[in-house]
Amino acid sequence: MPRPCRAEDGTGESWARTVERSGRGRKEHALEPALASKRIAVIGAGKIGSILLQALLRKGLPAGRVRASVQHAESARARSKSLGVAVGTDNREAVRNADIILVCVKPPGVGPVLEELAPAVTKKQLVISVAASVPTSYMQARLPAGVPVVRAMPNTPCGVGSGMTGICKGANANQSHLEIARHLFETVGRTVFVDEKHMDAVTGLSASGPAFIYIILESLAEAGVKVGLPRDIATLMAAQTALGSSQVVLETGDHPALLKDAVTTPAGCTIDGILELEEGKLRVTLIKAVVKAAERAKELMFAE
Ligand SMILES: NC(=O)c1ccc[n+]([C@@H]2O[C@H](COP(=O)([O-])OP(=O)(O)OC[C@H]3O[C@@H](n4cnc5c(N)ncnc54)[C@H](OP(=O)(O)O)[C@@H]3O)[C@@H](O)[C@H]2O)c1
Repeated sequence: MPRPCRAEDGTGESWARTVERSGRGRKEHALEPALASKRIAVIGAGKIGSILLQALLRKGLPAGRVRASVQHAESARARSKSLGVAVGTDNREAVRNADIILVCVKPPGVGPVLEELAPAVTKKQLVISVAASVPTSYMQARLPAGVPVVRAMPNTPCGVGSGMTGICKGANANQSHLEIARHLFETVGRTVFVDEKHMDAVTGLSASGPAFIYIILESLAEAGVKVGLPRDIATLMAAQTALGSSQVVLETGDHPALLKDAVTTPAGCTIDGILELEEGKLRVTLIKAVVKAAERAKELMFAE
């Protein structure tokens, strides 16, 4: 049984139960009925927009229910071909008749895009933004009164169905809007609901996190090479070890420190390795990396 371990996420929900609940959508199945009937417009079908769009199509959303837009005509042609859906450069045209408007442009572009869309958007449509840094209040102020807005922060492992997405709602959105967003992001991994005040922290931990993990994997693979393993085997071992350890944390709900203790035999080899990690300040370095990334996340909407 997962051990309750309260998250300080303002949701009042235990971490383990959050894991249980968010894991429910992970099994491979068709699109949730609540989503299957929706028409979706993706504004900014770049990296993350395309990942989400492809996942929805793979799960059975008919291509005819999807419209997408990008900035450049050349990019629209390329995306249309690779995604197999209508991609244009006319944002207002893309959102016409859409039930869900997924905004996937860079943070400084969100304001201008919403101002452009405003005359074409109604309260019956749900706007979901994946842009880092941009508050729901800022988005609501650029849309007609009452338009529901949900803010989400996915990460690149969404591309292989193992993503992590933090989701929060704006003042005009209700529980059913949140559920729609949850279904949408569960097509590409796990989800958690958080208070909006935590969204920059989500960006620093789970959206930037894959880069930190890749550096750890690269280092472990280098270490394998140093002790004599061929690079491909060392890389496989590092990645599978990280995957397996993560799976144990997710499936047991046990505190990582307890799991670490279980690997660490008295006077064995692991404790010698841990001593090196402590001397190298691995923990504090990782903590500072997430803190810095979360601080930077606050500024992205003002970036050039
Ligand atoms: N990548 C990640 O890991 C990640 C994770 C979570 C959240 N996000 C968020 O996702 C957003 C997009 O990031 P990304 O990495 O996917 O960027 P990206 O690959 O550069 O994609 C941005 C897309 O927006 C399009 N675009 C720009 N201005 C537009 C406009 N006025 N109207 C319509 N489309 C427009 C671009 O069109 P062109 O192709 O024609 O230039 C491009 O396709 C950011 O706000 C970021 O914070 C990203």
